[in-house]
This record gives sequence, structure tokens and C-alpha cells, in this order.
Amino acid sequence: MHAWLCENPTGIDALQWKELPTPQPKAGEVLIDIKAASLNFPDILIVQNKYQYKPSPPFVPGSEYAGTVMAVGEGVTHIKPGQDVACLSGTGAFGTHTIAPAAQCMPLPPSMTHVDAAAFIMTYATSHHALLDRGQLKAGETLLVLGAAGGVGTAAIQIGKIAGARVIAAASTDEKCELCKQQGADIAINYSQGNLRDAIKAATEGKGPDVIYDPVGGELAEPVFRSIAWRGRYLVIGFAAGPIPSLPLNLALLKGASIVGVFWGAFASKEPQANQAMMAELGRWYVEGKIKPVIDRTMPMAELKAAYAHMGSRGVKGKLVMVN
Ligand SMILES: NC(=O)c1ccc[n+]([C@@H]2O[C@H](COP(=O)([O-])OP(=O)(O)OC[C@H]3O[C@@H](n4cnc5c(N)ncnc54)[C@H](OP(=O)(O)O)[C@@H]3O)[C@@H](O)[C@H]2O)c1
Repeated sequence: MHAWLCENPTGIDALQWKELPTPQPKAGEVLIDIKAASLNFPDILIVQNKYQYKPSPPFVPGSEYAGTVMAVGEGVTHIKPGQDVACLSGTGAFGTHTIAPAAQCMPLPPSMTHVDAAAFIMTYATSHHALLDRGQLKAGETLLVLGAAGGVGTAAIQIGKIAGARVIAAASTDEKCELCKQQGADIAINYSQGNLRDAIKAATEGKGPDVIYDPVGGELAEPVFRSIAWRGRYLVIGFAAGPIPSLPLNLALLKGASIVGVFWGAFASKEPQANQAMMAELGRWYVEGKIKPVIDRTMPMAELKAAYAHMGSRGVKGKLVMVN
């Protein structure tokens, strides 16, 4: 097998494409022939030793992938060789093969392609858990999505529309705003131009959004929180802009508003049954054509460094998927 190896997490330049022995699955594991693997924002951080999860080097980066099971270890009964699965397992995705815990493998619905499957779990699970569980988004409410053309953002637009919300997408370019409208957003705001608070006010007839989905943070957090509606819920998803923002708590008091933390990975491990039910619903929605990952482009696995550069330059719309 071949894989991108991170022997020293000093950045993308240090990754090397290497031939490695193909491992055999131990008890509870499966060997997967990787067909597609997607980039998620933490993949950039993990190779720089800047992510909260710090695997011991050497490791193969990439956490989300889909492929065909080649062999199963002792005790694995619910997955068989030849079966197509998607998996999200911390590391191992950016190569030709990997070992995965069988319990973390999701058998693919019959109509799901490997590319869609590799771009599915992280974004849809995060946005479903955030909007419907943590945010309690209801039909008729207004949802504001920041970074709306990104991975979790596009999933949030689609799920917001399924929930019956009026969706305002916000992104940094007109091209990204156009994509958000194609995904179902009712209005799109380019936050690189003009005054963001005025634009939100105009889009909500002065009332403000009921739910704000924020995977960006940085300088956007305070102005959007100032714009939130009475009893609004501000969902803390991530900090793609870099700095972790602070919010004056008096703003929460004045609006009767909630600042709600969202950590899908912890939810999945602390509440596995609720997570399984959620994943089953997402699988059904995919089969019914209600949700579909936005694929920016596919690239050969060998071009991983160029893919990282594309994502780092804020150029990706939806998901970037590496294929073998
Ligand atoms: N809490 C959870 O459970 C959870 C789960 C998954 C992901 N996340 C977090 O959610 C965030 C987004 O993840 P993602 O996979 O959707 O990433 P993504 O596809 O790269 O989208 C992030 C968006 O952030 C915006 N952005 C603003 N400043 C940026 C900068 N300096 N560099 C890069 N992007 C910037 C970009 O939109 P514009 O150009 O339009 O501003 C971009 O589309 C990350 O922080 C990730 O860690 C959290």
C-alpha cells in the first residue's frame, strides 16, 4: 500500500508519499481499500500539531473516507469483505488502504457513491446535531449560516431548508453566495462587502435571525451575535478564521439569547444511540434525494499537497475529495 506519511507534524510540506506494508486487521478491525477521502478543516491543523487531537507520529493524516472492505478481523460479523463502507476515524484516510475499527464503519446505502460517502459523515452529522438537537431550529424560524459555502455550511443550508426554516447564507465572495442560493438559501449576504449588521437587519425586517450557525468565528462573531433575535440561539461550531472570539455576556442578557456549544464527536461517543438514529435519518434523506454533498472537485490522491493549498486559500466550495 501507499500513503501520505506525517513523520514530523511541522506542516504540509513535510508529508511524504511512501510505500508501507499492507496491515492485517486485528479483532474488531477491518482492512479498507480506500476509493475516496475528503478533506475536513482539522486535516490542515493536525499536520501542524495545532488540532486538539494530536496523534503520535508517524501517522497517516485524513479522517474521512469511503471504500471497499478487503478483510475483517476476529469478531466482526456485521461487515463482510466486498462491502462498501464510509468511515470517520481520526487518521488513515490519505492513502490507498487503511485499518479501521469496524464499529465506526457505516455500510453505504445502495445509491451512495464513494465520493459522496467520503464527504458525508462529518458535515451532515455536525449540522444535523447542531441545528435540530442543540439549536432546536423550528419551521418558520430564520437561520443565519456563516461560512455557508464551506463543508459544514452547505450541509447546514440543506438541513435548515428540510427543517422548514428561512435560510440566510453568508459567505465571502459573490461566487460562494451564488452557490449557497443554488443549495436552497433564500437570501445570500457577501460579508466582504458593506455592513454585515445592516444586511442582516434588512434580510430579517429588523428582527434578527432566530438561530445563528457559526463555523467561522473571528471578527464575525460579535456583530452577528449583536444581530440575533429575541430568544435566539448562537451555535458555536468552529473557528475557521483563526482567533477564538469573546462575546460580552450582557448581549445574551439583553436578547434572552443562548450561546450553545456544539461538539458532534463528543455527542457521538457520549450518546451513541442518539447518534445512530441521527445517522440513519441522514442516510434516508440521502436516498430520498433531500440532501447531497456539494463536491468542489475530486483530485488524485497523489495531489494531496495541492488540495491542501486549495483548501488553505479558502477556495473550496463544499467538499474537496481525493480519489484513488
Ligand atoms: N463543532 C463540531 O462538532 C465541528 C464539526 C466539524 C467541523 N467543525 C469546525 O467547523 C469549521 C468549518 O469546517 P469545514 O470543514 O466546513 O471547513 P471549510 O469547508 O473550509 O469551511 C470553512 C469556511 O470558513 C470560512 N473562513 C473564514 N476565514 C477562513 C480562513 N482564514 N481560512 C479558511 N476558511 C475561512 C470560509 O468561508 P468564507 O470564505 O465564505 O468566509 C470557509 O468556506 C472548522 O473550524 C471545523 O473545525 C466543528
